[in-house]
Amino acid sequence: MDNYFNKLVGVSAAQMPGTEKAFSGIIKNFDLIIELGTDNGGLSVWIYSNKKADAAFYTYELDPSHVKIPKDHAVNDCINYCDCLSLDTVNSISALVGSSGKTLILCDGGCKVKEFEIYSKFLKSGDVIMLHDFADSPNEIQNYKDIKAKCLSEGFWDGKGYDVHESSLESIKPYIDAAGLKKHNYKKFLNVLWGSFIKA
Ligand SMILES: C[S@@+](CC[C@H](N)C(=O)[O-])C[C@H]1O[C@@H](n2cnc3c(N)ncnc32)[C@H](O)[C@@H]1O
Repeated sequence: MDNYFNKLVGVSAAQMPGTEKAFSGIIKNFDLIIELGTDNGGLSVWIYSNKKADAAFYTYELDPSHVKIPKDHAVNDCINYCDCLSLDTVNSISALVGSSGKTLILCDGGCKVKEFEIYSKFLKSGDVIMLHDFADSPNEIQNYKDIKAKCLSEGFWDGKGYDVHESSLESIKPYIDAAGLKKHNYKKFLNVLWGSFIKA
């Protein structure tokens, strides 16, 4: 089965079919968009092509060999090859968030919960943070499987791999409370395996 995002934008993404429909309702609300974990780059290409024209976009990737975006695509200028958990990167992203308008942070690197813990602290009122491979709590394992099964039944998913969630409502509860976050478009993004929260 071909990758859904490959068909959509010409580059694969580790995303569920329909992810772009959920994001299309909100992507133009933001002045700054940060994606932690570029990988092949399908979601990066989609964000770059669908964001507000003057919105800033930065995506972060540890391993350049993962990126499959054609070299002449303008989104390459938005890629930062570095560790999104390093002190330098954390400081530079925190400064960006502090000096920009409405911000969206997408935690989709190697450790979503850690990324959420770190970056939720820098949000301003009205900023949104999301984390991927997310399952609602309680019953995370079943909740995650149910969403995958729905995609399988609709012919979207080949059913191989990625059967385990990487983050859950329970795992981020202390950081939600500490940062004063609320669920935001929660059901809509849960259906494509993203947890979505807004700073009150
Ligand atoms: C799940 S993939 C990202 C998927 C991508 N956002 C998409 O929608 O297709 C995770 C990526 O994060 C990268 N990564 C892991 N740890 C990282 C870190 N500390 N800093 C930056 N990138 C990291 C991995 O190399 C991998 O390419």
